[in-house]
Amino acid sequence: KLLDSLFGMREIENRLAEHFGIQQAVVVAGDCDVQEKILEEFGANLSELLNDRLPTGENIIAVMGGSTIAKVAKNLTRLETDKRHNIFVPARGGIGEAVDVQANTVSAVMATKTHGTHRALYVPEQVKSDTYELLIQEPAIQEVLTLIRQSGCVIHSIGKAMYMARRRKMSEETLRLLKEKKAVAESFGYFFDEQGLLVYKMHRIGLQLEQLEKIPLIFAIAGGKSKAKVINAYMKNAPKQTILITDEACANEILKGF
Ligand code: G3H
Repeated sequence: KLLDSLFGMREIENRLAEHFGIQQAVVVAGDCDVQEKILEEFGANLSELLNDRLPTGENIIAVMGGSTIAKVAKNLTRLETDKRHNIFVPARGGIGEAVDVQANTVSAVMATKTHGTHRALYVPEQVKSDTYELLIQEPAIQEVLTLIRQSGCVIHSIGKAMYMARRRKMSEETLRLLKEKKAVAESFGYFFDEQGLLVYKMHRIGLQLEQLEKIPLIFAIAGGKSKAKVINAYMKNAPKQTILITDEACANEILKGF
């Protein structure tokens, strides 16, 4: 029986990867909307995949924040070996999230759990543009921006567009614009419609969408039946090297079609 369900899951994973034309999908049994412990399993799966895929030498891993990735981070295990060192950096500057789910915090947790190191990017959200220009010229900030540009691996989640816009306290005007353009999904501060087309971008320093295409190892982690449409939208145009980690409820909903 267990073997049957295991084979069933492999089949779902293959169909999902084929549906999006991506190299791999990993599907965990259950629905993280109702079972929070699925997020821990996402973490365990990510740990295993990172252990298999990260090359030896020095790896720079850029991470995004959010509640999913924050929980995933807590469940990573040692990835450091005598031949492999990992440096975690936030993929982008602050985007108005609560401290515990900010990319800076998440990358620090990942570094602790995996025995690697991390570098923070302290660029506040609300600064006048001349202050901002000066800030990003600071050597300490430049150094982290350079690391982000050199990253060989990215770990991110996918959020519900309007919910994320409100959570990040974006202006009423922007909310209206996002509604008008029918934004469905959000990732990296970019908003996408149902077809996965970019409809809005937040101007933030750090990793830009164009750079993502060139990064060899990308993990998108999101699940729950309620995120099926959102994940489907983002994944339509996601870089083909993306490895999606999701759950069964979400995968079935996507494969069923909308
Ligand atoms: O960009 C996507 C969001 O970070 C996802 O946030 O994991 O809290 O839904 P969430």
